[in-house]
Amino acid sequence: MKAPYSVADARRLAARRLPRILYDFIDGGSGDEVTLRANRQAFRDLTLRPRGAVDPGTPSLATTVLGQEVDFPVLISPCGGVSLVHPDGQVGVARAASDLRTICAASVLCGSDLALVAATEPGRHWLQLFPLGGREASERLVDFGRQAGFGALVLTIDSIISGRKERDIRNGGVRPGGVSLSKVDLRTLLWFGPKVVGRPAWVWRFLRAGLPVGHPVLSRLGAGGTAMSYDDAVGRWLAEPLTWADIQRIRDDWRGPIVVKGVLTAEDARRARDCGADAVVVSNHGGRQLDGAAATIAVLPEVVSAVGAEVEVLLDGGVRRGTDVVRALALGARAVMVGRPYLWGLALDGRAGVAHVLGLLRDEMVAALRLLGVSGVKDLDRSVLDLPKE
Ligand code: FNR
Repeated sequence: MKAPYSVADARRLAARRLPRILYDFIDGGSGDEVTLRANRQAFRDLTLRPRGAVDPGTPSLATTVLGQEVDFPVLISPCGGVSLVHPDGQVGVARAASDLRTICAASVLCGSDLALVAATEPGRHWLQLFPLGGREASERLVDFGRQAGFGALVLTIDSIISGRKERDIRNGGVRPGGVSLSKVDLRTLLWFGPKVVGRPAWVWRFLRAGLPVGHPVLSRLGAGGTAMSYDDAVGRWLAEPLTWADIQRIRDDWRGPIVVKGVLTAEDARRARDCGADAVVVSNHGGRQLDGAAATIAVLPEVVSAVGAEVEVLLDGGVRRGTDVVRALALGARAVMVGRPYLWGLALDGRAGVAHVLGLLRDEMVAALRLLGVSGVKDLDRSVLDLPKE
């Protein structure tokens, strides 16, 4: 095994590789970052109960998610700005997910060419939508997702507005005065230049790759497949944020599997199910939206008992160890997803770095299951956890 030896290691190394503004954009949460920290702490608070002197043999991690086989139950959460982390971008992430036989959900704002992401393995990967460009443009995005070959649509419900992430504000904003790395002009270079000179290897990688930054998805978002500017696309999304009625409509239009992401209560889980969702993701957006919202592992049981018999329940937020995956599965999750861990891996070594980080989580799961005396993820239940009586 080579470094990084853990997800925490990958984070430390990524801090040295990425420009500060980008590292903070990935690492940070909203407000006081209470929810961001709670996601981690709540995993730690769940004690595991080992079984002594039993050897279950090499445990099986394989399962299915929405009917698709995965070799282990750790999926890629959708993240915006992936194309800025490493020139391999979301295409490299999807390839890494395929290499390890799992699933990559790509954000509509990942910045890479989504058609290429889907083409890495048609039918396997998922497309996460914000209503970029407003309601009408979303219909075009759904059509695009179908034609490109995405296997499921992920609809994120926790982003009526973007959370106030103070690290970004302190760093001068991710889009100060309209300046954006999605359009590399003189003004942009003058603003970003001083902020990235301290990371020459990162700059050199991007220069050598021909500056693959931008949002190709915008080039066909307008009426009749014309281009739409980033500001228009985001402005119309915020003017017409996603509602349950939209989810119902998209469900009927898409016809394939629908995943509703950003569920933290039994009420929202039931609404998602009633709108025809096939899966829900218990998620607080990695502590980036409503600060003070519950840790995801803490509300997982509420969601599982509300809808777990009818829809698949996934979870993300703070998963950093194989033992965290085990805890979530023991409480009824079908699988977990990770955001920051794969971005740190990507920062270190592109596609190979993502595969390495996913491999660490997989290997840690194997060790944890053996020590728990469990022969496979399908046998995990609450008996491996020390739970309070209530
Ligand atoms: C995100 N997340 C996110 N979610 C989403 O549905 N669409 C998006 O475009 C983004 N963008 C995004 C950017 C960055 C930099 C991060 C870190 C996260 C949230 C993401 O899908 C996921 O819910 C969290 O990242 C999970 O928490 P961990 O694994 O990062 O702790």
